[in-house]
Amino acid sequence: MKYQIGVIGAGSIARKRHLPELLDNPHVRIAAVCDTVLERAEEMTEIYGGKAFSDYRDLLALKGLDAVIVCATNTTHAEMTIAALQAGKHVLCEKPMATTLPAARAMIEAAEQSGKFLMIAHNQRLAPACVKAGEILQSGKLGKVLTFQTVFGHPGSEYWAIDAGRTWFYERQVAGLGVMSDLGIHKIDLVHWLLDDDFSEAAAMAGTLNKVNAAGALIDVEDNALCLLRTKRGVMGTVTVSWTYQKEDNSTIFYCEKGVLRIYAHPDYQLIVDYSNTEGEYHKVGEIPTNVKQVKSGIVDLFVDCLVNNRKPEISGEEGYKALETVMACFEAIKSRRVVSIG
Ligand SMILES: NC(=O)c1ccc[n+]([C@@H]2O[C@H](COP(=O)([O-])OP(=O)(O)OC[C@H]3O[C@@H](n4cnc5c(N)ncnc54)[C@H](O)[C@@H]3O)[C@@H](O)[C@H]2O)c1
Repeated sequence: MKYQIGVIGAGSIARKRHLPELLDNPHVRIAAVCDTVLERAEEMTEIYGGKAFSDYRDLLALKGLDAVIVCATNTTHAEMTIAALQAGKHVLCEKPMATTLPAARAMIEAAEQSGKFLMIAHNQRLAPACVKAGEILQSGKLGKVLTFQTVFGHPGSEYWAIDAGRTWFYERQVAGLGVMSDLGIHKIDLVHWLLDDDFSEAAAMAGTLNKVNAAGALIDVEDNALCLLRTKRGVMGTVTVSWTYQKEDNSTIFYCEKGVLRIYAHPDYQLIVDYSNTEGEYHKVGEIPTNVKQVKSGIVDLFVDCLVNNRKPEISGEEGYKALETVMACFEAIKSRRVVSIG
């Protein structure tokens, strides 16, 4: 049996990741693609097959459809996900799962009520060096993690999104939030997962330093942010995110009792385990997808594996909620200029 899957949003992430990864999966048939710009959906169905739609509600009404991938603009995620779950479809939803916490909660409740799966596309957990880093941290070889620093910066979404040059990522009404919810949420989820620990406190600073709209005015969401986080077990660290780094940086470093673990922090060695008393171990384990070079993320395979084995996705709505909750705590900290408690 092949799962019939529909893709909502035929922009960059659908083209560069979800559709190619769906095509690669032997358990899947691409049944439909939807985009408000119908030609974009048609362009994709010509390549991948299935029916093209301009209204996601028509896609959801397609007979035999088992699941959808929601990868349109941020502020559409909650409405589309809830409608899909209520229509009896499993959902893989792009990050940020929603742009408000009540909307994220409503998505989780819709999944519970429908009995269908909701998974959030926090794909950094699946990058090979992150998987291996998790194993090393779990092994205890490095002792306890004490502090961390994680960074995600690239030159900006205008170099990535389908509407080259001008992008909805910079418009509050469509994006909901800025670089913190676009890039920061990836790293917050990753560190939470690698530490197997929840964040408990946040302090943060953000600014719009460089990105301008068509009128030449600074955009109305932040393009840079620096956050200080503490976990329930007391690990402290920084999350630095930027849309103004001229070269991409997607690194995470854990400073532990017995050494340092460097993830995607070196151009040739994706993982470096630097023990305090011996020479470092340099591992070539596989790249992480970047804006300029997409490698297989594995997110579609994981989602389909959950369908095949009838297993609730590990990267669940609840996990997506935790990441969004931490992002929201950072915004509250920025607004109030205070340290904010989480959860
Ligand atoms: N996990 C990741 O690493 C990753 C990377 C990039 C983007 N994303 C996420 O994927 C989502 C899409 O980003 P993108 O880079 O593809 O943006 P994009 O601008 O390239 O594409 C978005 C597409 O959605 C379409 N769209 C907008 N509203 C719609 C609606 N109501 N119905 C159907 N289609 C609609 C647009 O016409 C456009 O073609 C965003 O939420 C983004 O945060 C995730």
